[in-house]
Amino acid sequence: MSLRDELKGIVPQNYLCKLPSRFDVIGDIAIVSVPQGMETYNEDVARAIMERTQNIRTVLNKTSKIEGDRRIASLEIITGESTETIHREFGLAYRIDLKQSFFNGRLSFERKRVASLVRSGEDVLVPFAGVGPFAIPAAKNAANVFAVEMNGDACKYLSVNCKLNRVEKNIHVINADACNISNMIRAEFDRAIIPTPYGMDYFLESISTLVKPGGYIHFYTFKPKEDIYGLIQRYGNMGFEVLFHRRCGNVAPGISRWVFDLKK
Ligand SMILES: C[S@@+](CC[C@H](N)C(=O)[O-])C[C@H]1O[C@@H](n2cnc3c(N)ncnc32)[C@H](O)[C@@H]1O
Repeated sequence: MSLRDELKGIVPQNYLCKLPSRFDVIGDIAIVSVPQGMETYNEDVARAIMERTQNIRTVLNKTSKIEGDRRIASLEIITGESTETIHREFGLAYRIDLKQSFFNGRLSFERKRVASLVRSGEDVLVPFAGVGPFAIPAAKNAANVFAVEMNGDACKYLSVNCKLNRVEKNIHVINADACNISNMIRAEFDRAIIPTPYGMDYFLESISTLVKPGGYIHFYTFKPKEDIYGLIQRYGNMGFEVLFHRRCGNVAPGISRWVFDLKK
């Protein structure tokens, strides 16, 4: 039974049809977007979520889109006390405060796929690292990881998560603007994993100077399907071999997150 079905007879139909059929679960926190005007039913929505999903301690209402440099949405607590949780993914644990840092549980398969390509001893650069869900799996594969993140709160949790997953010796956490990496790090990397924020595609060109010839770049970008053929041509013209690409989920009507595995 869907969330909407469970709320039939409790929430009026004109609101119910606007309620998204899905909600996200990160650790023991559920995040739902209750449509504007339906706030009087927030607690009914939270109760329905907690009844159908085990181990939920907090339900948050997402009241804005993901926005700003830190890529976080406005979140209001409907039920529960804390926006901090521990999310577990493929044997790894991430402590996170969802009010302070970005986290997308829907990318777990993609993170596993990329981590499986990382070889022991590689030097790996992860700009836009967040609380570590791309950097920590790479470090777990015995790579030497440089994780760059501008949000100081996310960095704090990234350091905590390195210890939590016992990879602190393999990760250098750098709290800085990724656009300055080439001034800060004099190194050539075997691989860069780039979970690019929206609108920062220009970053690919500058970061590629830090990747060895023959090295790999996993580049994430937000695009409509019609742009993909042109992008493959463009990356080819930039000197990359496009080894693989896939869609990693919808972000807005007609716009998806895509990953491109590029060889320099
Ligand atoms: C789309 S999120 C990805 C976070 C993480 N990789 C994940 O998948 O959970 C983008 C991250 O980049 C950070 N960020 C945005 N602009 C940045 C910049 N110029 N330099 C470094 N980090 C930045 C944000 O704070 C945010 O944590």
